[in-house]
Amino acid sequence: MKKEQGFQWNSLNLGVCYYPEHWNKTMWEEDLKRMLAVGIETIRIGEFAWSQFELREGEFNYSFFDAFMHVVEKTGMKVIFGTPTATPPAWLTKKYPEVLNCDINGTPYQHGARRHYTYNSPKYVELTKIIVEKIASHYGRHPSIIGWQIDNEFNCELAEFYSESDTNAFRGFLKEKYESLEKLNDAWGTVFWNQTYTDWDQVYVPRKVIHNSTNPHVKLDYIRFVSASTINYCKIQSDIIRKYVNNEVFITTNGLFDHVDNHQMTNECLDVYTYDSYPNFAYGLVADPHNNKTLNDRRWSKHLTDVRSICPHFGIMEQQSGANGWNDRMEGPAPKPGQLMLWSMQSIAHGADFVSYFRWRTCNKGSEIYWHGILDYDNRDNRKLAEVGKVNIRLKKIQEMTGAKYKASVAVIKDYDNIWDEEVDRWHKQIAKVSDDELFVALQMNHTPFDYLYMDKTVELEALMAYSLIIYPHPLILNTERVALLKKYVEAGGCLVLGARTGMKDCHGQCVMTAMPGLATDLVGVTVEDFTLIGPGDGKVYAEYCETVVEMPVFNEILKVEGNHTDILAKYTNNYYKGMPAITKNVLGAGSTFYVGSSFNREIIEMILGQTKNLAPYKEILELEEGCEIAVRVKEGSMFFIVMNFMNAKAILKLHEEMLDMDTDKKSRGPITLEPFETKVYRRRT
Ligand code: GAL
Repeated sequence: MKKEQGFQWNSLNLGVCYYPEHWNKTMWEEDLKRMLAVGIETIRIGEFAWSQFELREGEFNYSFFDAFMHVVEKTGMKVIFGTPTATPPAWLTKKYPEVLNCDINGTPYQHGARRHYTYNSPKYVELTKIIVEKIASHYGRHPSIIGWQIDNEFNCELAEFYSESDTNAFRGFLKEKYESLEKLNDAWGTVFWNQTYTDWDQVYVPRKVIHNSTNPHVKLDYIRFVSASTINYCKIQSDIIRKYVNNEVFITTNGLFDHVDNHQMTNECLDVYTYDSYPNFAYGLVADPHNNKTLNDRRWSKHLTDVRSICPHFGIMEQQSGANGWNDRMEGPAPKPGQLMLWSMQSIAHGADFVSYFRWRTCNKGSEIYWHGILDYDNRDNRKLAEVGKVNIRLKKIQEMTGAKYKASVAVIKDYDNIWDEEVDRWHKQIAKVSDDELFVALQMNHTPFDYLYMDKTVELEALMAYSLIIYPHPLILNTERVALLKKYVEAGGCLVLGARTGMKDCHGQCVMTAMPGLATDLVGVTVEDFTLIGPGDGKVYAEYCETVVEMPVFNEILKVEGNHTDILAKYTNNYYKGMPAITKNVLGAGSTFYVGSSFNREIIEMILGQTKNLAPYKEILELEEGCEIAVRVKEGSMFFIVMNFMNAKAILKLHEEMLDMDTDKKSRGPITLEPFETKVYRRRT
């Protein structure tokens, strides 16, 4: 059973990231007062400030932050305190170089940037425990501190660790998992290419090999190991903090990065999850916004959907407020007037009750001199500050929405085994990446809100039953528990959609030696007779689906009906398998399973959503242009429709029903013109 989140905000409210150590002390009080004046009630501080507490090893000093917290108390500001472990100080890395993370050749990343340590260094863990214990015991009961942030962005910058300590810890992880080398050799298929291990000392984290083609089963376990190391390190810190804080004070960390099971981490270590949202990446110099097929900044709605799956009522720890850029990379333009509001509302629409901007004022020194905050170096009032003020006024109008639940009747299933296998297996990635993007675009463009649902041991039938349609695009790795749960869902009346290559692997990433789709065969009522990647010489392959011709992209499976209740919905119209089954539907109990013998594209998804009556569920109430998103949050007899125009152009919204415009407090109906980037919030009583 999934744990309820341990903390929820009781109002929609704003925050900002602040770095007292970057500014002259004489500026603090005025800064905090200006924040409060514009509606910012919380600041996040401390996450890179180790040297302010321990300038030299063992010499602890709290005077700097005590002085700052004094100003905080005076002004009535609230604080989220960060533990400073994301940036070990110079004395530490000089004296204990073994704490440094290394690249795949074993060369250490030196001091001078950030996140240069490894979670598995016993010395770093020892020093972490000391500094966290010192800070938490000193500030744990401070009345202005409402929450703690652990470290900063686990696995940002790098999500791979190759130091000697990592190899040692990897061996420990594997010994616990497999107990014997015999089992390890079996799981990793080491008989292939003579990789058999006869001593644990022969086992390493991945190292430099020809073509970087390390054994895929080793890589899969390595990523699992990185996740376990991250969670273990997070838990060490949260356990310490918990000893010193009251129950109402929350513990969080900010994500979302690779190689960590964020669901497990949140379940085991945190009260609430926070996300750092930077949609302006879509408009930076390395992006191509005119040819982007995944909706530019609107794509952050996909990331926010992921965050919501971890924690339904989450916070934004860093919401973009200005242009992005380090001095040596990531150059981006300034957000246009209206985009700060749009992106704040995008976060709130998807479930955030707290939005904290990055950062109060742009830093005038260091690598982030171009990563702009609300204020610029000159510290004058500007349009961004005015826009934050407008967000605040709006939040006051829509307070009623606090804690409302995002509503979706379609879910897309994900799981970490398959996400990580995709990284290891390019064939898997090719199939899954297209489906992932196209699913998002199809659901967005058709104004069909959806959730991600992560399949893990905590998921029970009830969670699945909340959805009328579930799409599990390409579960190459499957196990009997997952299949049993999916079967119960279908038998109870659910509709499940599966795609190509389902069931082809076991938990180690080895291919099972049965007919495909392996464990899912009874569920779908077909087997895969033949299959092929679509090669560059094949051109596009199509199928006829209910008198419509749809492309069957990336990979094709030629299906054979096995069940008594299985219908062929589509047949291929070209290539050597012309006329053979491509898409099928199997009736099982009160529900059904669709099987698609390829990757998913927008047309296929629209056909299935249409056929199962899951397309555009709110079109009777309101209609929108494709360039706008609709999100729905519900709470105690009210539905809140959040409408977002992502276009730098006007859009028409048709309200078919009278609803309350929460900004104007007036009833609204009929066609409404949305200005570029404009957002609206409507309330409908249910
Ligand atoms: C985040 C990070 C911040 C800041 C910001 C802009 O990833 O947490 O500390 O670096 O990006 O680069």
